[in-house]
Amino acid sequence: MKAITVTDQAAGLDGMTLADRPYPHAAENDVIVRVHAAGFTPGELDWPATWTDRAGRDRTPSVPGHELSGVVTGLGYGTTGLTLGQRVAGLTDWARDGSLAEFTAVEARNLTPLPADIDHPVAAALPISGLTAWQALFEHGRLQAGQTVLVHGAAGGVGSLAVQLAQQAGASVIGTGRARDRDDVLGLGADSFIDLQADRLDEAGEVDVVLDIFGGEILERSARLVRAGGTLVTIAGPTEIRPGDGRTVFFVVEPDRARLAELVRQVREGRLHVRLGSVHPLEEAPAAFTSGRRGPGKTIIAVADR
Ligand SMILES: NC(=O)c1ccc[n+]([C@@H]2O[C@H](COP(=O)([O-])OP(=O)(O)OC[C@H]3O[C@@H](n4cnc5c(N)ncnc54)[C@H](OP(=O)(O)O)[C@@H]3O)[C@@H](O)[C@H]2O)c1
Repeated sequence: MKAITVTDQAAGLDGMTLADRPYPHAAENDVIVRVHAAGFTPGELDWPATWTDRAGRDRTPSVPGHELSGVVTGLGYGTTGLTLGQRVAGLTDWARDGSLAEFTAVEARNLTPLPADIDHPVAAALPISGLTAWQALFEHGRLQAGQTVLVHGAAGGVGSLAVQLAQQAGASVIGTGRARDRDDVLGLGADSFIDLQADRLDEAGEVDVVLDIFGGEILERSARLVRAGGTLVTIAGPTEIRPGDGRTVFFVVEPDRARLAELVRQVREGRLHVRLGSVHPLEEAPAAFTSGRRGPGKTIIAVADR
């Protein structure tokens, strides 16, 4: 089968190529998915799990990309809950071959059934951003109706979904981003918008929860806005920075079949809008990975015929 591979950590993106790889093996509780659409995270070549398995052993050549939408074509021993021919979407393991391939092996519990009326590219753009936004706001941030949340990068993959989910939950939402994102972010349901280049961040006032995607100086300034007992949630990386009288949580998104199913339902009912960016064929994945400015929305690789 065809897959995008990386072989050499030092070479990074320069070593990314379209290659022939063996058809994947379905381990216990795995399914094999014929990938129709796949997503990737621009920074994933910096993750140790891209290069080694969970025991730290070299696993190159490895296949990047960790979110997908596709159709089940094989079942491992003991797999339950999914059937052959079923449409599915979800996350692949960080430390195994991923989704930039014609076929991939995934633990069934990391996938959720996908209704026929959601296109594969839209579904492939949802798992990481949607679950990250949900887990940040409600599991780690404990956001509740009536509270205020500051969502950084509110026009981006995680931010745009976080704005919508927080607004639906009855929170007041302040989004941040670039000047050109203002109307989009307000259109998604934010109550106000801060242009990080032109406005002052402390115009946000006191907030109950911050969802940070940047780290660094913006995270540091955001910590000062967190009300007593509030939470600074960051997905940028581990940090020592704490609000004066509150918590900081850094986390990495975890698969959650039930929650992903709920997000899929919201998309299907038109209550959640996924910002889909450009869609490229598999052979263009290295170029899509390398292009610095990707434009608004999630870049998706269309692998099989739609
Ligand atoms: N820990 C986890 O589990 C986890 C999960 C998902 C994502 N992440 C990480 O979280 C980050 C965000 O992911 P994402 O998918 O939401 O990315 P994204 O779609 O690129 O969104 C980032 C948003 O922030 C904006 N932005 C970037 N730099 C800015 C600046 N200096 N001033 C104002 N706006 C700025 C971007 O605008 P432009 O596009 O115009 O630059 C974009 O709208 C990434 O680093 C990703 O790796 C972590």
